[in-house]
Amino acid sequence: VRELTLEEKAALVAGGGFWNTLAIGSAGIPAIVVSDGPHGLRTPKEHDQLGLGSSVAATCFPPATGIASSWNRELVEEIGVALGLEARTEGVAVVLGPGVNIKRSPLCGRNFEYFSEDPVVSGELGAAMVRGLQGTGVGASLKHFALNNQETNRMMVSAEVDERTMRELYLRAFEIVVTREQPWTVMSSYNRINGVYATENRWLLADVLRAEWGFEGLVLSDWGAVDDRIAALVAGTDLEMPGPGPASDREIVAAVRAGTLEQEVLDKSVSRVLRLVEQSATAGADYDERTHHALARRAATESIVLLRNEADLLPLAAAQPVSVIGEFARSPRIQGAGSSQVNPTRVDTALDALAEFAPVRFAPGYSLVQPIDDPALHEEAVALATESDVVLLFVGLPDGDESEGYDRTHLDLPAPQVRLIASVTAVNPRTVVILTNGGVISLEPWHDSAAAILETWLLGQGGGVAIADLIFGVASPSGRLAESIPFRLEDNPSYLNFPGEGNIVRYGEGVFVGYRYYETADVAVRYPFGFGLSYTTFSYSNLTVSRNGLRVGVTVTNSGPKAGSEVVQLYVSPPMDGVRSPRRELREFSKVVLNAGESARVQFELTRRAFSRYDAAAGQWVVSGGDYSVQIGRSAHDVELEATVTLWGSRPPVRLSLDSPISDWLANPITGPLFRRGGAEGSSEGGVNLVEMVSSMPMRRLLRVPGVPLRAGQVKVLLTLANSRVLKGIARLFSK
Ligand code: BGC
Repeated sequence: VRELTLEEKAALVAGGGFWNTLAIGSAGIPAIVVSDGPHGLRTPKEHDQLGLGSSVAATCFPPATGIASSWNRELVEEIGVALGLEARTEGVAVVLGPGVNIKRSPLCGRNFEYFSEDPVVSGELGAAMVRGLQGTGVGASLKHFALNNQETNRMMVSAEVDERTMRELYLRAFEIVVTREQPWTVMSSYNRINGVYATENRWLLADVLRAEWGFEGLVLSDWGAVDDRIAALVAGTDLEMPGPGPASDREIVAAVRAGTLEQEVLDKSVSRVLRLVEQSATAGADYDERTHHALARRAATESIVLLRNEADLLPLAAAQPVSVIGEFARSPRIQGAGSSQVNPTRVDTALDALAEFAPVRFAPGYSLVQPIDDPALHEEAVALATESDVVLLFVGLPDGDESEGYDRTHLDLPAPQVRLIASVTAVNPRTVVILTNGGVISLEPWHDSAAAILETWLLGQGGGVAIADLIFGVASPSGRLAESIPFRLEDNPSYLNFPGEGNIVRYGEGVFVGYRYYETADVAVRYPFGFGLSYTTFSYSNLTVSRNGLRVGVTVTNSGPKAGSEVVQLYVSPPMDGVRSPRRELREFSKVVLNAGESARVQFELTRRAFSRYDAAAGQWVVSGGDYSVQIGRSAHDVELEATVTLWGSRPPVRLSLDSPISDWLANPITGPLFRRGGAEGSSEGGVNLVEMVSSMPMRRLLRVPGVPLRAGQVKVLLTLANSRVLKGIARLFSK
């Protein structure tokens, strides 16, 4: 850094082009290349700046929305390794992913690029991907930091969120990945957070990311996210992408000369850029396309969720003739649109894959090019369904419905497809509906008419074979929903506040995102978070929880006739402590593979965080003292086993002052008992509890009420006693 001129430094903190850092030959600094994206490599071909849709061929793994349903850390790590090898083959130093934003609303157009509505699932799978990727010597770029939960107005909108909600929900997945895996880079997002752009957000980038979480890498901006370059540098956005050109360099130079940007700040960012360049592997690699395609298939198989299987229609017997209806079977939609779009090395279609198992007849049923009613296609499909023993009906959202850059406005399938489901199921009750969609869709009003439903999300290039394997029972479905499927869009907790108005979106539902809301408010959903069927059954027994709550064990048994995988989900339900919290929250999970009749003991190691919530007033994570229920659930809604553990609290004592309400004086371990002994609790008049009535009144004002049997002098003494640490410590010991 010392050898560089000010001009060179200013130039180095911006990209040297769309996809690379700047090279300074005279200083021996090479450029490094970065590429999208989370589920496969999108390396633009030469002379093609954006490279949308026509990048160098790469393996298209299932997008996050699919792979999240696998709940399989090892599998995601393997994909990370594969991405790393492909990146090295193409000379790419940093892969722009994973994206761990929380799915706040099912409408977010980019939900297919994100894992879950839950931060533990998002964080654990994001961490697994970073682990795999960085293990090959290629950097990750954890994105989009932070609160980028919609596409509408994404460059301007301010997410208005309270700190507890940020810490517990929206920052948590990032925290898990950063503290555990140290991604080489973090990408600051387009939006503002409580009025301040993420790229200029000192609290986010300096205080939380670096100081609290110990992030040591480089922060780069999302493409075009920098609004004010100097403010962004000061806040901690080291590298602006893509390179905005010499005017920006001059601005930085001028700011240093004018003293509005400290030289030290610039130097720090420069040194981070240099470290990233140094860190980057120079040696290439090679990968076997077929091996990666096989991994993409395996990943797709684990991404599919069996939602419904009436009378065990699935799996079909070998060689069972089937009618396949729906254009998606022939022209699969394997991923979403936008910057993450991979140009796949090959694509399996379900139509071809099914034909390997059994005689297949096909009718497209609808057109994906013209999403309007086509009576001829409709009738042909219904005629075929009438003559068939079993129908495999492929429906889903067409390409244009989901993309980076815009959100959906409803959850419905295209109307011609809904009509097709109605007609086909009316003539053939043995119909399996196979869904293709990146974000959650409504299963209404046709749900009950389908004998079986497979939610396949978006499966990447190996999806066709994966679907056929599950239908004919080569594998048992093992996916579990990483997001709730509501009955109606209006049931979703963000409904009234999505996507906001006038550059503001208020996260009014607070921490009650997804199942955290449905379970707490008792709102029925079509399928809960964590749900998924299998071709076998599992039972649970012998739940043990250590006295401090941190070691949990449970036995899971494959009690059915076939081998299969179960996702063991551990939830914690907190005591009522006056702060409204979700009824239960996922704290850990583990996927186990079991043969028929086999059992396994699953052990979880928790940390105190599993029992904590963020106390914004105290500025720290706190554990409330009381009874916690540790639960093993088949989903967020179906608890199988539970055990209670009583924990000591770590809530910082509330300091009393004359402004403290009477309720705080009563809750205080010193003054509370004194007041109660003084008869405070019994005082009532005409059936009205007087203490309750004044509980929110500050002491200062109570003292002014005529006739109150308290004097200012007494209160002063009480204050000193109440805030004495020693006395409080003793009182807490005795209160247990
Ligand atoms: C997206 C990022 C992506 C970048 C580069 C942006 O529009 O938000 O996710 O990595 O473009 O393509």
